[in-house]
Amino acid sequence: MSVILAIESSCDETSVAICNNGKITANVIANQTIHKNYGGVIPELASRVHQQNIVPVIQQALTDAKVNKKELKAIAFTRGPGLLGSLLVGVSFAKSFALALDLPLISVNHMHAHILAHFIDDPKPKFPFLCLTVSGGHTQIVLVKDYFNMEIVGETLDDAAGEAFDKTAKILGLPYPGGPLVDKHAKQGDPKAFKFADPQIKALDYSFSGLKTSILYFIRAQEKENPNFIADHLNDICASVQHSIVHILLSKLKKAALQYGIKEIAIAGGVSANSGLRQGLQSMADQLGWNVYIPAFEYCTDNAAMIAIAGYHKYLNGDFVGQDVAPLSRMEF
Ligand code: KG4
Ligand code: ZN
Repeated sequence: MSVILAIESSCDETSVAICNNGKITANVIANQTIHKNYGGVIPELASRVHQQNIVPVIQQALTDAKVNKKELKAIAFTRGPGLLGSLLVGVSFAKSFALALDLPLISVNHMHAHILAHFIDDPKPKFPFLCLTVSGGHTQIVLVKDYFNMEIVGETLDDAAGEAFDKTAKILGLPYPGGPLVDKHAKQGDPKAFKFADPQIKALDYSFSGLKTSILYFIRAQEKENPNFIADHLNDICASVQHSIVHILLSKLKKAALQYGIKEIAIAGGVSANSGLRQGLQSMADQLGWNVYIPAFEYCTDNAAMIAIAGYHKYLNGDFVGQDVAPLSRMEF
């Protein structure tokens, strides 16, 4: 029996999961609401709240999985990339816990884990597959050859797709994180109501900073004519922005699929919860004969279940790290 406890603390979610022989038996996530008032995650506050949450979240996960800590075989943790202060809480706790229980430590790359979340439930993608990984900090097209043999074939040159959603939300006066709210309003709006700049970026790379500026200038110009423009057209603005972001994401994904001759296509990361992206991907798959893999909502945004499943595959390979391991805000892919 390989019972692994996994800790995720890279940003503003404190999460702990238990994986029992490749099956997730607990996945507890404590969200931090404190950042709502600030329009973004405040690193210092995030790390303090992780400190308050970590012990109760560990206890809850052990209770949910009906596991005694003496039954654990390894401790997995997110080493990076992420906010250093936040990572430090999870990494330090993982190290102390492993030392106290005399257990091996497994270091997990957060971005690999988003992709490996596809191996929690069935159906699982077959190697090699392409994964569009879209989160608050990253936008990448990854060629996944095996569990830990992955190559980035395209990525953003500036903002991430999640940032494009969150910054748009901020312009519209919506609280952080704005992505889910833009999605909610978009459902009642017309995606063709307004048109925004389409970036012309080479190869398989992305850029979202021009789109953000185009939205900002458009709103400012409209508000000169109608000071209530945002309130009067909120649903249509959200639907049009979402349509633009989804179009940019999927056109490069299509290009990558054709270039590599791959029809196994997955999406991962917080933005993969977006309803427009999920629908757009499904209709592109129907047209092009792709097998698509879309994670369950609970495994899109940050969670420790994905760290646990990545940790489980490292455990099977005997891939452990020593007590001298330190968190990395930027981690080699
Ligand atoms: O993967 P994640 O939870 O954290 C990072 O590793 O960054 O991603 C968070 C990002 C945020 O930018 C959030 O606004 C976005 O995912 N997001 C969404 C939706 N749900 C979360 N963006 C658009 N539509 C959604 N439904
Ligand atoms: Zn993430």
